[in-house]
This record gives sequence, structure tokens and C-alpha cells, in this order.
Amino acid sequence: MKYHTIDELLSNNQSWVSEKLALDAKYFDKLADGQKPPFLYIGCSDSRLPLTNFTRTEPGELFVHRNIANQVSLTDINFLAVLEYAIFHLQVKHIIVCGHYDCGGIKTALEGRSTGIIDSWVNPIRELYLHNQGEINAIPTREARLNRLAEINVLAQVKNLYQTSIIRKALHEQNAPTIHGWVLDIKTGLIKDLNVSTVQWQLPSCPLFAKPSLVTMPEIHPTDGVAGCCCEEATKSG
Ligand code: CO
Repeated sequence: MKYHTIDELLSNNQSWVSEKLALDAKYFDKLADGQKPPFLYIGCSDSRLPLTNFTRTEPGELFVHRNIANQVSLTDINFLAVLEYAIFHLQVKHIIVCGHYDCGGIKTALEGRSTGIIDSWVNPIRELYLHNQGEINAIPTREARLNRLAEINVLAQVKNLYQTSIIRKALHEQNAPTIHGWVLDIKTGLIKDLNVSTVQWQLPSCPLFAKPSLVTMPEIHPTDGVAGCCCEEATKSG
């Protein structure tokens, strides 16, 4: 590791600001104008993969949510708030779910290394393994098995996005961003686009948001009696 102290980070900050200003005197004035990022990036918390570095993106270009093993959790209020803000306020055009090979969260899920809260957090990945163990167990090496599970995890998280009421609402309003599934190969630095087909999960006319059809009730007049009621027959016959 190159840096170990907080003072080094603060010193780096000052030199970085100086370099930015030397290239563009208005750089921070423009940043302070507000954000309109085209991308929401959902990634793993792993320190080795800030996507900005790998994609040459600048501050203001990626809206970010990161957690262990890049989970799209339907019960994570933090994530759901990020997603809602990204879509309905920032109006991002693309959502990128980016997993990575050599992911500690994937290893924990597959090999049960951890107990405690992380164990619970990665349990959905364990479920994915159980659903796909025929395919994964047939892969000859441990590394390749873990990498395949990392890819399957990305596919599942893209699918999970379509389970959120937020994305369904965006689909219904025809302003849903395009969703992409990527994995980053930490050994090469290269991003692999999994070319996830999302058509089967897009439900623009989801019943949750469809307008309920109105049921027209027949008008009832006091002199009509109650149509079809057993009392009517009883009255006639009585
Ligand atoms: Co990871």
C-alpha cells in the first residue's frame, strides 16, 4: 500500500485540487453547479474497484451505490432511496450493475467462511449457488467456479432491479433507464459486458400500476325490490 496516514490523504487532496485548477480554473465552479450524472453504478464495496478509475469517469458522471457483493436488495432502504433518487430526480439514462471476479462476498457465500451479519447478507448468493450448482460444480477449477457465480450474481441483481416498484413505475411511465450487467476482471482490469437480455423482465403494464377497471353497478330503484334475492321469491310465493 502506498498510503497509510490520514495526513497523506489530506495532502494528496490539496495537490489534486491544485492540479485540477491548473488544467481548468473553473473546474470546481462547474462541479458546484449541481449533478446530472447519466449513470447509476451499483458495485461491490471492494477497495480495488472504484469504477471511476476503470472507466476514466470524472466526479459528477457516476451516481454510486456500493455494498458487499453488489446486491440489489429489495429490503435495503438505503439502496432503494438511491435507486429512486437516481431515476426520478437525476433521471439517469443507464444503470450498471458491476460485479467482479475474486469477490470476497462470493467466496463467503460459496464456502461459508464467515458467520454473523455478512453471512446473512450474502445468503441470497448462496441461494443462487444452490439453484445453479449443477452448472457450477461441473466447472473444473475453484477460481472459475467463483467467477461464474460472480456472473450469475450480476444477472440475478439485474433481475432484482425489475422486481422493485421503482423500476416498474419507471417502465410504466416509459422513462426507465437501460440496465447493464458487467463484471470486472481484477486480474486484467478489463470490464466484461454480460450483455444481459432484460426484455423478459420488463413489465410496462405491471398489474401494480395498471388502472383498475371500473365495475358499473346496476341502478337500484326502491320499487324494484331486490333482484335475484331469495326474499323476492319468498314474497311472491307467500
Ligand atoms: Co466483491
